[in-house]
Amino acid sequence: MNNKTKKNEMSWDSYDSERLKKLDLGKIKTPAYIIDEFILEKNLKILADVRKKTGCKILLAQKAFSAYSTYPLLRKYLDGVCASGLNEAMLGRDYFNKEVHVFAPAYSDEDFDKLVKISNHIILNSCSQLERFKKKIKQIKNVEFGIRLNPEYSEIEVELYNPAARYSHMGLRIEDLKGIDLSIVSGFHFHVLCEQNSDTLERVLKKLEKKFAKYLILPNIKWVNFGGGHHITRQDYDVDKLCKLINNFKLKYKKQVILEPGEAIGLNAGILVSSVLDIKQNEINIAIMDTSATAHMPDTLEMPYTPKIIDAGKSGEKKNTYRLVGATCLAGDVIGDYSFNEKLKIGSKLVFSDMANYTMVKNNTFNGINLPSIYKYTKKGKIMLIKSFGYKDFKDRLS
Ligand SMILES: Cc1ncc(COP(=O)(O)O)c(C=O)c1O
Repeated sequence: MNNKTKKNEMSWDSYDSERLKKLDLGKIKTPAYIIDEFILEKNLKILADVRKKTGCKILLAQKAFSAYSTYPLLRKYLDGVCASGLNEAMLGRDYFNKEVHVFAPAYSDEDFDKLVKISNHIILNSCSQLERFKKKIKQIKNVEFGIRLNPEYSEIEVELYNPAARYSHMGLRIEDLKGIDLSIVSGFHFHVLCEQNSDTLERVLKKLEKKFAKYLILPNIKWVNFGGGHHITRQDYDVDKLCKLINNFKLKYKKQVILEPGEAIGLNAGILVSSVLDIKQNEINIAIMDTSATAHMPDTLEMPYTPKIIDAGKSGEKKNTYRLVGATCLAGDVIGDYSFNEKLKIGSKLVFSDMANYTMVKNNTFNGINLPSIYKYTKKGKIMLIKSFGYKDFKDRLS
């Protein structure tokens, strides 16, 4: 989830702003997401290096980023996709066309039957699902099945994003494994990280091993999927430690390691450009934007966090402070308070950074607001419109 731990931080260090400055925003019809292929590839090269040094598999977590027009680039560096259910699995099969690994909290019979035809790994979340599909699993030859473990340890502070929180429905705890037949599974999966560095992974692995070691050594277990939340492409991420952890784990348990990051792939590789529609005052200056917190960047309200804007300061830091709000009826559709050197005008364009992850996949058309167009910023510096949205897209979701 976008910027979960970086709330209110406004530095631009990790951004390739020279490239961004060359962008002719005048040509962009707002609101619009712009995916930067150069930064995407920069991230992918870091991940490819981890694959090379460890032999682990790295999958794209499509729940974070599934702009499939970029899949031809992504598939050069990654092993495949992970999917949160049937539709993402189909997208991965159709457009990525490498490995497809699926985890969902529960599967219907109908989805399960379709998934076994297009997936390489299917991960189950409960004993009862294992029991329900046991007969079929025994008959299926070319799909490997796994179960998700809950290590009951996580350093995620926000409950909304914590799969190891008390009462969590994610994964099986150690006591849930008692007496269950694991002979039909080939692997384990866990996911308890969120925008975290490899020191957190180290502590998670310690807890996992302490609880589940006797299961990790089972000969039928071929792989362990370490989930997502590894912020590998962030500047301060300790990649060497990650490689050491993976290599040690492989040496100790002789298992294939799989990572399924989302954020690390699209980190800083997308911006959202938005225009000021109107300016008004109510004790403070308010700029009404053609984008929306609730419709186009829902994590800003769910988390909550304040997205970064290029060349903007925090409230009061620069000469002109504004509250930026969205163009929907929700009174709380507030993006945040920012300050600028120049006064904002109707038509001023603002650039929100790090908007590829979780934003493009979670947006909606609340109030009939248009979804932002999608542009690609190519490595050669060309700006290409991939898709724009209108009345038909809004209407097609309704009945
Ligand atoms: C099971 C699973 N795998 C992978 C991910 C991707 O995580 P991230 O985008 O933080 O790397 C998530 C995110 O919620 C997840 O739930």
